[in-house]
Amino acid sequence: MNDADSIKPLLSAESIRARTEEVAAEIATRHASDDLVFLTVLEGGAPFARALHGCFGTVSQAEVGVSSYGGSTQPLTHPVLTSPLPTNLNGRTVMVIDDIFDTGNTLSMLSGELLTAGAGAVEYCVLLRKTREHEHPLAIDYVGFDIPDEFVVGFGLDFDGVYRDLDYVGVLTPGARRL
Ligand code: PRP
Repeated sequence: MNDADSIKPLLSAESIRARTEEVAAEIATRHASDDLVFLTVLEGGAPFARALHGCFGTVSQAEVGVSSYGGSTQPLTHPVLTSPLPTNLNGRTVMVIDDIFDTGNTLSMLSGELLTAGAGAVEYCVLLRKTREHEHPLAIDYVGFDIPDEFVVGFGLDFDGVYRDLDYVGVLTPGARRL
């Protein structure tokens, strides 16, 4: 950890593991006989997707890259795909896995792209949902935890490229030298 930053633990590794098992069980119950495509949003969604997949048997998995930055430090209003979507959607239900639902820009964009690409339906599964007014409100089908509108890191979420690999989620207060 950068010794000038401080991280206040919010969700322990154990609570994330236990909640992930519950969410996986909910998905398995609701989609017992469905041919789902699990689509992980990189990079942040990868640790949660790995944890979820650990709870299932064989599932159809894919990944997609999304960039919220257009070559500057300013977030784009409309994030863009940085890798192709799966080509075998053909009316199947896509379960989008991501680490956090914040403004909603990312999942809203993906939803449109997936339906255009032939998905029959799109559902969303996120580890975290911020308690705030979402610019693109979407009904999120599976939520690990609703959290306060604070800057969080860990379990996929980074700050300046670090803290993504923490096995817990915490609220970051950046050190003075980063500000
Ligand atoms: C983060 C996160 C989500 C998105 C959520 O991705 O992983 O995909 O932001 O925010 P939104 O609801 O406001 O769109 P980020 O663009 O930071 O990329 P990364 O996952 O590669 O770090």
